[in-house]
Amino acid sequence: MYSAEQLKEIYLNYLERNPFTKAPTNLFEPVDYIMRLGGKRIRPILVLMAYNLFEKEVQQALPIANAIEIFHNFSLVHDDIMDEAPLRRGKPTVHHKYDTNTGILSGDVMLIYAYKNIAAIQDRTLVPDLIDIFNEVAEAVCVGQQYDMDFETSVAVTIPAYLKMIEDKTAQLLVGALKMGAVLAKTSAENVYNLGEFGRNIGIAFQLQDDFLDTFGDPVKFGKRVGGDIVQNKKTYLVLKTLEVANEQDQAELRRLMDSYPEDEAAKIERVKALFTQNRVPSMTEDLMKSFQAKAMSHLDNVTTQDVRKQALLDLASLLLARKT
Ligand code: IPE
Ligand code: IPE
Ligand code: MG
Ligand code: MG
Ligand code: MG
Repeated sequence: MYSAEQLKEIYLNYLERNPFTKAPTNLFEPVDYIMRLGGKRIRPILVLMAYNLFEKEVQQALPIANAIEIFHNFSLVHDDIMDEAPLRRGKPTVHHKYDTNTGILSGDVMLIYAYKNIAAIQDRTLVPDLIDIFNEVAEAVCVGQQYDMDFETSVAVTIPAYLKMIEDKTAQLLVGALKMGAVLAKTSAENVYNLGEFGRNIGIAFQLQDDFLDTFGDPVKFGKRVGGDIVQNKKTYLVLKTLEVANEQDQAELRRLMDSYPEDEAAKIERVKALFTQNRVPSMTEDLMKSFQAKAMSHLDNVTTQDVRKQALLDLASLLLARKT
């Protein structure tokens, strides 16, 4: 059984052997740039881990791992355009380094490459089932992303609506990674289901953490612009919970701030951050993350394979939620 670190190494070697160094440069160089920019590589690791729960070697699963990571990076290229984000993994985003049109088309071709990789697995009889899972997940990401954008300009977002939105935009791709790895290993439908549920709950916790770090993270470690969600009026759990628990005065102030685009963005960030902190919302966010993490673990318990094989997934889950990057 491989550890997360070993699987990351195996995936990175595969990526090296399958580079995006083709013509036209203006199309593929940005793909190469974003794919080699680093990142935690959680999703390909999850594909390989799910497969490795049932199979000793992971080579067969590498094209699926790559498909998922390419799709993830595609979604980030377009997300950074939509969120007007300048930084990704501590470096300029694709549309800042190149331009927006480049971000659009290079992103599009990455989506095609995700499908090409799925179609490249050795046992092609599994392709239709894998495509079914992938399509469902990829559509969910678009749905979640649309709600994320819609909520920027809405003042009436509920916590359940927010949780559904992050389940779609973020958790579903983790579901897809795990399910596709498991289907490729030809395990039982019940195991596929439980791994998917593990991913769904870990994924929700993961996005809650991302929202927390977007406000409270260390800018150097986080690698993205800290405070970006506040500037964009994202209705994160931090915002929605503060609106639920704060006194009327704080609520009114937060509502006004999160419906504005002031010139002094730094002052807005500071004020919103203070409202979160004085209402103790950071620790409430942590509690909610932990409850999703616990649910995830109970589903992993139900997966039928030797317990020692689950250790790598258990370790990854706790590592993810303690992350700073
Ligand atoms: C960023 O995902 C987008 C979210 C779903 C929060 P990651 O935090 O996994 O990004 P990288 O790939 O490690 O940079
Ligand atoms: C998750 O949302 C991104 C996608 C589903 C593409 P965010 O907008 O929070 O992701 P980051 O913070 O830019 O990585
Ligand atoms: Mg976004
Ligand atoms: Mg974003
Ligand atoms: Mg974010």
